[in-house]
Amino acid sequence: MSLIGQHNNGNGLVVSGPQLRPRKKEVAMSSSEETGGSLSESQIAVHWREEEYLYPSAGFIGQANAAEPAIYKRFSEERFPECFREYADLLHWDAYWHTTLDTTNPPFWKWFVGGRLNASYNCVDRHLATKANKAAFIWVPEPETEGAKAITYQELYRRVNEFAAMLKGFCGLESGDRVTFHMPMVPDLPVSMLACARLGVVHSEVFAGFSGTACGGRIADSGSRVLVTIDGYYRDGKWLDHKAKADEAVAVAKSEGVEIEKVLVFRRNPGEYHSASPMVQGRDYFVDDVIGDYLRQLVAPVPMPAEAPLFLMYTSGTTGRPKGAQHSTGGYLSYVAGTSKYFLDIHPEDTYWCFADIGWITGHSYIVYGPLALGTTSVLYEGAPAYPDPGRPWRIAERLGVNIFHTAPTTVRMLRKLGKDEPAKHDYHFKLMCTVGEPIEPEVWRWYYESVGKAEAAIVDTWWMTETGGFLASTLPALKPMKPGSCGPAALGIYPIIYDDDGEVVEAGSGKAGNICIRNPWPGVMQTVWGQPERFVQTYYARYCQDKASTDWRDWPFMCGDGAVQAEDGYYRILGRIDDVINVAGHRLGTKELESAVLTVPEVAEAAAVPVIDEVRGRVVEMYVALQPGLSASPEIEDKVKRSIEVQIGKVARPKNVWIVPDMPKTRSGKIMRRVIASISNFADVGDITTLANPDVVEGIRRQVYKQKTERGEAPRELSAKELEEIQSYGKAE
Ligand code: PRX
Repeated sequence: MSLIGQHNNGNGLVVSGPQLRPRKKEVAMSSSEETGGSLSESQIAVHWREEEYLYPSAGFIGQANAAEPAIYKRFSEERFPECFREYADLLHWDAYWHTTLDTTNPPFWKWFVGGRLNASYNCVDRHLATKANKAAFIWVPEPETEGAKAITYQELYRRVNEFAAMLKGFCGLESGDRVTFHMPMVPDLPVSMLACARLGVVHSEVFAGFSGTACGGRIADSGSRVLVTIDGYYRDGKWLDHKAKADEAVAVAKSEGVEIEKVLVFRRNPGEYHSASPMVQGRDYFVDDVIGDYLRQLVAPVPMPAEAPLFLMYTSGTTGRPKGAQHSTGGYLSYVAGTSKYFLDIHPEDTYWCFADIGWITGHSYIVYGPLALGTTSVLYEGAPAYPDPGRPWRIAERLGVNIFHTAPTTVRMLRKLGKDEPAKHDYHFKLMCTVGEPIEPEVWRWYYESVGKAEAAIVDTWWMTETGGFLASTLPALKPMKPGSCGPAALGIYPIIYDDDGEVVEAGSGKAGNICIRNPWPGVMQTVWGQPERFVQTYYARYCQDKASTDWRDWPFMCGDGAVQAEDGYYRILGRIDDVINVAGHRLGTKELESAVLTVPEVAEAAAVPVIDEVRGRVVEMYVALQPGLSASPEIEDKVKRSIEVQIGKVARPKNVWIVPDMPKTRSGKIMRRVIASISNFADVGDITTLANPDVVEGIRRQVYKQKTERGEAPRELSAKELEEIQSYGKAE
C-alpha cells in the first residue's frame, strides 16, 4: 500500500502520510542525539474514526473516590501548584513543608520544600492502628500447589524493620547510599524497598529478566555497594536459577570501577538453596541466616527531606547508556498516592491486583508505593500470565476476591488469544480495570471490557512513563466516559501541549499529531538523571524551552518522547515513542543498546535493530547484521548475535529473527536506512529507494528475508495505516 493520498484501514483510521507535506525544518537542539532528532514520524495528520463513548455503572459512580466534577476545578490551572496539596495531604508528614513548589533552579523543580516524611512509615507503620491484621500483600507463587500467602501490615512492619536493621547493622548503610536489587516478584522485594526507604537509602531495582551484565552496568552507574538478589524463582513452569547473574553483575560493576562489598541472597524457600552458583565467602550472605541477628529489632523511620531521592529506575532512551530516573520521596509518594486514589479508585477495603512486574515503574508506583500509601491489599503474582493455562489469572481473581485489575495490552492480547472464553467461567467481579504501557487496539479494548470486565468494570487507560512517576493522562473513571483506544484527558493538575516540529502548537481537534509535552511541573516528575544532570535537561527540556534564563515554569515544557493526537473532546491518543525506542510487550528497549550489544560479536561489522508489528507483544525486534569482510553467514554467528543480546541485556530483548545480509541499505552519507529494512521485516512496501547509495542491495535482502520468513511459517499480516506509517518512516537516517 502506498502512502500517497489518504487510506482507510479496517479500523476506520485514515492517515495522510508525511509525503503530502513538505518536510519541515528541525527546531533548535533537534540535531542532538538525545532530543530524538526528526519529529516528522509523529507529525502525521491523523483522522481517527471516533469510537463510541461507554459510561461507568451507577454502582461504580456511587462508591467512587472522585465522583464530583468539582475535583477538576480544584486542580484547575489557577490553583497550580497548590492543588497538589490535596495529594500531599494523603500522607503523614513529620514536618509540614513551607514552599509547595520551588522553581529557582529550573528544570530541577523542588516540591514540598521544608517538608519531612518517611515513605516506609507512610506505607506501613501508620496503618497499624487500624489495619494491623489486614493483608498488605497477598503473594501468589507460580506453582499452584503452593497456595497464596498473605502478609499483613503487622507482619510487613516486622519484616521491614528487621531487614532495615540488617542493612544498617550488617551492611553499614545509611541515608543517601544506593543499593541495587535484582529481584523477581517475591515479597522480599517490596520488603527490601520499604526497608531502604525506612533508612533513606536509595534503592535501584533492576528487572529480574535483565541479564547480570545489564544489572552490573546499573550497579556501576548508581555506585551501589550492596546487591540484593535471590537464589531463583519460578516462571512459566521452570525454576530459573538467578544467583549466577549476581556473579556476573559484580564482575561487570568491578570492570567499571565499582566494587560490590556484599551480596545479600534471599532464598525463595528459606533454608533451602537452589542455585548452581556457589556462595562467595566474605561477599555473599544468605538473608535468612544473617537476619537471625536482627529479629525483633525496630529501626526508627528516618524523617527524610521531601526532596531526598527515594529510588532510581533505569530506562532506555536514544543513546546506548540507560539513564537512572531519580524519583523523590515527598513529591513522588504524594503523586502515586493521589493518582492511585482517584484514577485507580483504590479504597483501603479493595483487593487490588496489578499484574505488572515491580522491576518496572508501574510496579513501583502502582503495586507498592501507591496502594500501600492508601492502606489497601495489593496482590503480587510470581509467574507468567498464562501458566499453566490461560484461566490462571481468573482463578486468582476469583480465589482472592480481586476487585481492581491492572495490566498491559500485551497481557490482554495474549490472554485473549489463548483463552478468549476463560473469564466467563470464573466468578469474580472487577469494579475497575486499568491498561498501561502501550496503545491498546479498540478491538482488544472491547474484549477486555466485555469478557474480562464482564461489561461491569470501568476501564482506565493510563498513559505515562518511567520518568513521570505516575499517570499523565487517564479518564477519572466515574466522571468521564471511556473511549476505546484513547487514554482520555490529562490527569488532574497536568497541562499537556502538543508541538509540531517548528514549536507551533497543534490544536485539539485539528486531526494532526505532534510531540506531546507537559507544560507544568508536577510532584511525580523525575528529579534528574542520576549523575547526569545535563542529560536530564537535554533530553526532556532543551527542545521546547522558551527561555533558558527563566525561572518561570511556563518556559520549561517537559518533552515526554511520545507522538500524540488530541481529539476535539480533549482526549489524547498516543501513537508511540519518537525516540529510538522499541516498545516490546510494554518494555522499553533502546535500539542503540541492542545494536551495541550485537557489535560486541567480533564477526559483526554493522547492526541495525528494527521493530516488527506483533499480534501479542505489540512490537518485537528483528536484527539486521552485516559481517566483517571475508566472512559468510552461518547459524553459529546468528546464535552468537542472539546470545550477545541475552547476555548484555536479557532474554526479554532477544530478537525474533537475525538477518545476516551482505550489505545494509545506506544513504550516500553512509547511514543505515532503517525504514527500508523495517519495511522488509514487516512485508511492507519499501518506498522510495532512489536516494540510496546502494539501491541494488534492497531486492536481494527482501528476497532473502521473505524466503526465510516463509520457511519459518511467518505470513504477511495486514498493517493498519498507523502501523504502516510507523514502519515506513522508522529511523532517522534519511
Ligand atoms: O510510548 C508510551 C508507552 O510506554 C512508554 C513508557 O514506557 P515506560 O517508561 O517503560 O513506562 C511504562 C509504564 C508507564 C510511553 O512513552 N505507553 C505507556 N502507557 C501508555 C503508552 N502508550 C499508549 N497508551 C498508554 N496508556
